[in-house]
Amino acid sequence: RRTRIGIIGAGPAGLMLAHLLARAGIDCIVLERHTRDHVETRIRAGILEYEVAQLLRETGLGTRMDAIGFRHDGTNLLFDGALHRIDFAALTGKHVMLYSQHEVVRDLIAARLASGGEILFEAEATGIADIHTGQPVIRYMHEGQSKFLACDIVAACDGFHGIGRAALPAERLREYDRTYPFGWLGILAKAPPAKDELIYASHQNGFSLLSMRSSSVSRLYLQCAPDEDIAAWPDSRIWDELSLRLAHDGFHLQTGEIFQKSVTAMRSYVAEPMQDGRLFLAGDAAHIVPPTGAKGLNAAIADAAILARAIEAMLNRADPAPLERYTQTCLARIWKIERFSWWMTSMMHRFDGHTAFDRRMQHAELDYYASSVAGKTALAENYVGLPLA
Ligand code: FAD
Ligand code: DHB
Repeated sequence: RRTRIGIIGAGPAGLMLAHLLARAGIDCIVLERHTRDHVETRIRAGILEYEVAQLLRETGLGTRMDAIGFRHDGTNLLFDGALHRIDFAALTGKHVMLYSQHEVVRDLIAARLASGGEILFEAEATGIADIHTGQPVIRYMHEGQSKFLACDIVAACDGFHGIGRAALPAERLREYDRTYPFGWLGILAKAPPAKDELIYASHQNGFSLLSMRSSSVSRLYLQCAPDEDIAAWPDSRIWDELSLRLAHDGFHLQTGEIFQKSVTAMRSYVAEPMQDGRLFLAGDAAHIVPPTGAKGLNAAIADAAILARAIEAMLNRADPAPLERYTQTCLARIWKIERFSWWMTSMMHRFDGHTAFDRRMQHAELDYYASSVAGKTALAENYVGLPLA
């Protein structure tokens, strides 16, 4: 088989790339190793940056988001039992949207299929070859058979554990990595959110986060060990710990049936370069952030937007420059996103190795960013998202 752009992975990066290319009249095929149901129900992120939400609206994908998502004009920091609001609207004129990643994925799949585009589910890419020729090839398994997809360009949007990054030449690949000595225990519960906006809480027992998915479903997280045994966390212990870490005046945590529990490890990671020959990486395939600050999904969609624009310049206007500069364009944003996620994580979590001095520094930093207009603005402008390019 043949297509112009062969895309590996039907996550936010791969699907957004396909959506934008299709709108520019560029033929592409998406290969996804899981089923459609699997990718449409996979629970992950929930916050969309301002420009990412605008991009969805401008490309015909805003209807469900604006109907069932929530616009958040600010967020809250909680420490020493006191809540501090960061007013995005007043500080930056922008907002974020609370809308689940799997809903974005559903919208993107529906749009692609409605416009006659192709996504091959249960099609696992097993190899990428000939990226230094004009016609690279993706080898994949589908319906029990080994097949080939010949293309002009391969976009590896196959997540952190995909095959795309491994196809970069080892002698050119540079990796930058940090693992954190903790993880997040995340739950979904049938409970109305106890607050209309998120609460990022720093507590002596560790970080916690109050988020939500709808007016009847809460999403909550607790800092835990990176290899935390979930069996040690019966529902009552989770609610007790959340109530303790989120406690402040006038606040009452709403409890309810917990219907999903998981532990996520935390790391920062960047691979450079994000391209070689006709192979381009986008999203988690090239970089990972710890979840504090809600950047992973947004970074993946931004890469896809930058790559789509560059491919369009090359194929529709014979201008190869944006594609040649793809790594450079993405990494200028990505390193700032890495910094913000690392900083939010470092400022808000409990580190067992910290000295009393380190803890005072953490506290002074929180106090500064929650009270100074310059500090709040710096936090807000990163949270609502840096310009796409
Ligand atoms: P993915 O969404 O990982 O998509 C990659 C796709 O490629 C997958 O569908 C995969 O099945 C497919 N694939 C992989 N290998 C192959 C292959 N060989 N052949 C075919 N298909 C393949 N971010 C936040 O901002 N906030 C959060 O709260 C948050 N929570 C998260 C919780 C979890 C458990 C995880 C894993 C991530 C979380 N993230 C969060 C990060 C965010 O979800 C990711 O950054 C985002 O999904 C990246 O999108 P992507 O398209 O690059 O990769
Ligand atoms: C959510 C996750 C995050 O990592 C974050 O910073 C904010 C919200 C969420 O899942 O709702």
